[in-house]
Amino acid sequence: MTTPTITLNSGTSIPQLGLGVWQATNDETEAAVRFALDEAGYRHIDTAAAYGNEEGVGRGIRSSAVPREEIFLTTKLWNSDQGYEPALQAFDASLAKLGTDYVDLYLIHWPLQDTDRIERTWEALEKIAESGRAKAIGVCNFEPHHLQVLLDLGGTVPAVDQVELHPHLTQKEVRAFAADHGVTVESWSPLGGTSNSGWGSASKPNTLLADPIIARIADRHSKTPAQILIRWHLQNGLIVIPKSVHEERIAQNIDVYDFELTDLDLSEIDTLDDGTRVGAHPDELNIGAPE
Ligand code: A2P
Repeated sequence: MTTPTITLNSGTSIPQLGLGVWQATNDETEAAVRFALDEAGYRHIDTAAAYGNEEGVGRGIRSSAVPREEIFLTTKLWNSDQGYEPALQAFDASLAKLGTDYVDLYLIHWPLQDTDRIERTWEALEKIAESGRAKAIGVCNFEPHHLQVLLDLGGTVPAVDQVELHPHLTQKEVRAFAADHGVTVESWSPLGGTSNSGWGSASKPNTLLADPIIARIADRHSKTPAQILIRWHLQNGLIVIPKSVHEERIAQNIDVYDFELTDLDLSEIDTLDDGTRVGAHPDELNIGAPE
């Protein structure tokens, strides 16, 4: 069984499940990407300039047997490169590291508090999209008020908003706003985050994978907690990019098409939303802002 796709507002088709690589070294990333493509059946890889592993992603893709055009590749612009010219240059640098002449999706990684600069950055991304070197453009960690800034420009509507999203933080407002405007939501830290993603003032370590409700549902289906969480994202229409550098987990995380969560399972999981984040709130952290 293959991964379903979602059509973005750009017309581009995105596999609903992809491999995340945050906090993986270049060598770990290369091996994980190759395994994910060749052995596990992934066709979607999500990286970022700030992860420092775009070269590993590029090596993994080139050493796999899967042709580039069958792979949906996302990377992200870091905040220190926001602004019109800096964004154009940063995009070229990302393509060079990835060793490809286009990406399928290019995202602004984090909203700056400087709205003017976000607008200039968006103009650069629109130019990149017009050139065909990014098939779609979008954002990450944008709250509705940040999205409104781009909507007010009257140009390209972001194809995607990638936000922290998991059963502890279901992001109902962001999802409703995004749905109203044709923006597809992607979930980062879909399994509740890494054990050391404790950055930002409101952060806390991952407790979702050990949650007793998730464990009980996993037992019911003879699946793992990670597989339950991934199904929850899929059945909620979200794009999900679980990260792992371990082959067994990479394979396990895409082995989710032979069962479905029931309405009871979904309603039990819905009780877990307590609004807790593993990362920072986008309004509280002006991370990496240019001087
Ligand atoms: P690892 O790379 O060592 O496997 P996220 O929610 O950001 O996707 O975080 C995933 C975290 O959970 C990572 O630390 C990853 O670590 C771990 N992980 C990924 N897949 C599984 C799995 N199937 N079971 C348990 N832990 C997992």
